[in-house]
This record gives sequence, structure tokens and C-alpha cells, in this order.
Amino acid sequence: MENIKEIQNKILKLKKEKNALILAHYYVPLDVQDIADHVCDSFEMAKRAKEAKEKLIIICGVRFMGESAKILSPDKKILIPAPDAGCPMADMVTVDDVRRLKAEHPKAAVVCYVNSSAAVKAESDICCTSSSALRIAKAIEADEIIFIPDVHLAEYTASKVPDKKFIFHTGFCPTHHRITEADILAAKKAHPDAQFAVHPECRSEVLKHADFIGSTAEIIKFARETKAKEVIIGTEMEIAARLQRELPEKKFFSVTSAFVCPNMKKITLASVLNSLKNEEYEINLDEKEANAARQSLERMVAR
Ligand code: 13P
Ligand code: SF4
Repeated sequence: MENIKEIQNKILKLKKEKNALILAHYYVPLDVQDIADHVCDSFEMAKRAKEAKEKLIIICGVRFMGESAKILSPDKKILIPAPDAGCPMADMVTVDDVRRLKAEHPKAAVVCYVNSSAAVKAESDICCTSSSALRIAKAIEADEIIFIPDVHLAEYTASKVPDKKFIFHTGFCPTHHRITEADILAAKKAHPDAQFAVHPECRSEVLKHADFIGSTAEIIKFARETKAKEVIIGTEMEIAARLQRELPEKKFFSVTSAFVCPNMKKITLASVLNSLKNEEYEINLDEKEANAARQSLERMVAR
């Protein structure tokens, strides 16, 4: 069995030979983050893929992240290391759902969380990520917003944009939705001096206990900059692990030990090496659908 360093070195060598770019999300295992050119939240990942000069990009994340990169860069070869690494929230909204909501609310603009399929993006007016949802909802001209699919991000955004009417969908992230108020109260009891930084995909009963609410990259920035010596991290566990390694003088705690995105954990070093070596698994999209989805993603990255 090869050790971690050996596989990492093989990946770095091959990456150089093939002039490939590796982008990793903060939820993939740390040993994969360590070989990436950039570790990003989903907004930065989409932007970097679009702006990259490299023609071969490995997206170490879930499928919708690879699809977004392909939609924004149709001339590049986009690979994902694990073809079955999906996002259950993205599968919770269908094209028919969007069409029905649009028919029921013809004046509303459709704001689509980037955690969605290309087909759903194609039916939407603009995409957003957790770091841009608020900005986009405020800037949009329409007074009514159909916000799909994440009900928690939608409710949080709606609470900050009270002058607009929000129409919610019922989607959620199983990893964040699982966390309850009892979990955060228990974590706060165990670490009474800690601040609490949380992702807006969590339930409102959890968000109400937060000192900070933001995307993965924003949580990391907050944790670095806060004067607090202890921070409870309200998102996927890899973020607390990354912060603990980077800032040993502070203490980082995950709300619970169940804060895991199983799909992100499918991105292993072995799968990245295979992906680079065999140039699989390539993202290929229906051209018509990708063209239609591009507009809403382009609007997102331009804001
Ligand atoms: P970020 O946009 O904060 O990286 O979140 C992506 C995601 O899938 C959160 O569960
Ligand atoms: Fe999807 Fe949730 Fe995993 Fe994010 S954490 S990729 S929303 S399943």
C-alpha cells in the first residue's frame, strides 16, 4: 500500500505534466485539499473554473460543482473523481417543480441555489451560492422571489430581505438539516466560552444561536479573525479539522460528530489520482440545457 505522501507526489507530478488545475471544496478530506491549487467555497470554485487558463480541470467536490464549471467553461475538459458523488439537496427539486411555481407566481423571479441540476438552472433567472444569496435577493428587481431548493437558506435570506415576498421550496441538505437546537445547546453547554459560526443551510432554530452566519469560506475567515479562543463550527466537520490544523492556538469544535457530508468523502486521493491518470469522469452536458443554464450562472458570478 502506498502511503499518503507517495500518492500526493504522484498527483502533483501528473498535474504538472498534464498542465491540469485542481480545485477542491472545503468539505473534501484534508489530504485531498492539500494537493489542490485552490481550496474554495462553491462561489470561488465556479469563478476560478471560469477564469482558469488550464484546459483540464479536476473538480474535487460533488457533481453540481463539476456541472457548474462545465457550464461556465464549455471549452474545457472538466473531470470529477467520483461519478456518484452527488448532492441530495440538488436532487430534491425538479424542472416540473420550477415550472409549476412559475405558473403559480408569474411575476416572481426564480433564484436558484447553485446546489441544483443543470436542467433546473436552465429554468431559473439567476443562481446564487450561500455567500451571494443575500446580495442577489436584495439587488433583484422583482418584488417576489421563488427561492429553490433550500428552504433554510431561503428562510434566512427572506428574514434579511423583509420588503420582498419569498416563495419557498421544500429542499434541504440532509447533513445540515440533521443538526437541531438541542445539538447546539449541548455544544454551547460543553464549551461555554466558544463563539458559534454556522452555515445558512442549517435550520432557523440553530441559526438563532449564531455569532456568525456565512458560507464555508466566510466561516473560515470569521474563525481566523475573531478574538475568541474557541469556536463551535456549524458546518461539515472537515472545516473544524482544517481550522484546528491551521490555528493550533485556538480550539475548534464541530457541533456534533455526525456533521459529515458522505458524498464529499467519496473524493479520496486514490480517486483523484485515477481521475488525472485516466481523465475520468468527464462532465458532459446536453448542449441546449447548458446554454440555457449558462445565463443564470453568468449572472451569479458577475454580481
Ligand atoms: P458553500 O457555498 O458555502 O461552499 O457551500 C456549499 C455546500 O454544499 C454547503 O453544504
Ligand atoms: Fe450537498 Fe449538503 Fe453535501 Fe453540501 S453538505 S454538498 S448541500 S449534501
